[in-house]
Amino acid sequence: MRTSIHGQWSSRWIFILAATGSAVGLGNIWRFPYLTGENGGGAFVLVYLLCVIMMGIPIMMAEILLGRRGRKSPINTMETLAAEEGLNPNWRFLGWLGVLAGFIILSYYSVIAGWTIAFIFKTGMGDFVGANAEQTTTIFSELISSPGILLFWHSIFMFITIRVVSRGVSGGLERAVKFLMPALFVLLLVMVGYAMSTEKFLDGLKYLFIPDFNSLAEKNLFSDVFLPALGQAFFSLSIGMGAIMIYGSYLSKDSSITSNCFVIAIADTSVAILAGIAIFPIVFTYGLDPSDGPGLIFISLPIAFGQMPFGTFFGCLFFILLMFAAWTSSISLLEPAVTWLVESKKMSRIKASYIAGFIAWLLGVLTALSFNYWAFEFSFAGAIKQNGLFDIFDILTSNIMLPLGGVLVAIFTSWLMSRKSTVDELGLGDSIAYKIWRFTIRYIAPIGVLIIFLNSIIVFIFWLTVLFKILFILKINSLGSKGFGK
Ligand code: PHE
Repeated sequence: MRTSIHGQWSSRWIFILAATGSAVGLGNIWRFPYLTGENGGGAFVLVYLLCVIMMGIPIMMAEILLGRRGRKSPINTMETLAAEEGLNPNWRFLGWLGVLAGFIILSYYSVIAGWTIAFIFKTGMGDFVGANAEQTTTIFSELISSPGILLFWHSIFMFITIRVVSRGVSGGLERAVKFLMPALFVLLLVMVGYAMSTEKFLDGLKYLFIPDFNSLAEKNLFSDVFLPALGQAFFSLSIGMGAIMIYGSYLSKDSSITSNCFVIAIADTSVAILAGIAIFPIVFTYGLDPSDGPGLIFISLPIAFGQMPFGTFFGCLFFILLMFAAWTSSISLLEPAVTWLVESKKMSRIKASYIAGFIAWLLGVLTALSFNYWAFEFSFAGAIKQNGLFDIFDILTSNIMLPLGGVLVAIFTSWLMSRKSTVDELGLGDSIAYKIWRFTIRYIAPIGVLIIFLNSIIVFIFWLTVLFKILFILKINSLGSKGFGK
């Protein structure tokens, strides 16, 4: 084995648990339902599932393969493997793209995780008992319009993340994932049970699983449905930015990458689908708007907790478990940068964690303020986005940086690396399974992403307008005017 600054997972299951911990998080329970609601229900879900199967799983296999072969941080892994294969060392920039995406995601992820912590207390104190949709909406709006509170919980969450990463990813993570993930899963089943008792359960199911192409007539299929669904597949599986690559770097040589990936992807996708089944019947029964945006679960689920038996207990427990799920994901967002600082800058792990975490925290301050002082509106993918920088960070990373990173991983592994290296690493021999993998990653993933990108020209126009908006804001600020937006 190569020399490595880190050890190995003590068993295959621990790798699966850690990678599932990275994959399952706010992306499944908070982001998936609200994007489904914004981008056309069933059609979005269908494209998302296709993206998971045809691009997500093969790219995840490639990322783990690279990680296990390189056994370093993504930046150094890419550089080492490129050198080994006689390629340009600038492939390390793929690692950099990932580190940057990780920082940006972590910065806003921590703010949303902060909402989750705030909701632990709100549900625990019985704030939602008997509440209707209007009341839960007010409670949520009050929370996000208080920058002080958002910053407080954001700071606490980031601190917990930094503490764990600074001690090395192992013990705590293992325990958290082993017990808390299954508990979250069971609680989602309880929520689905509640959803079944609501009047509009079937409407919720239809909305999720039966594409309604009429409702899409006004939308641009590529930029309004395909691109966000593609982004969600990458975001939810934690691929395209090195998180899974780094977890792969701790994986032992004799563990099967393919079966591990299937387990992780199935667990991740089922959690998202269960969250959808739990939420949409509540949304329809209580007259909420599915396209309500990032607050969707925070205004819909509390109504259920306020109505069901032992709702205060279940509600509080639900948000506690969601916070842990967010935390096991955020660890993997910070890990690539920290490992690189330790490896290349010879920093201590503690120092590296605090420095990297502090930068992500600072960026997160911008997100926290984009729900109140700095909120501004723009339209994207058929939806009005109201939270300026937060939405920009989110779209930039999941719809652009992650798919781009993922496709570069696909191209590197299937077109540039020697066939022998990938055969060796995957351990599938030259079987049919290997050929299917190689075909999807060679053709389907790059061509699929390219088609979606090219057809989302609107996205580029969008970026131009964002650029102008930022210049405009800077100009207003430099003229000494105070505040903008809402
Ligand atoms: N997959 C995580 C979630 O669904 C988020 C994440 C994205 C984590 C990218 C790591 C890398 O919540």
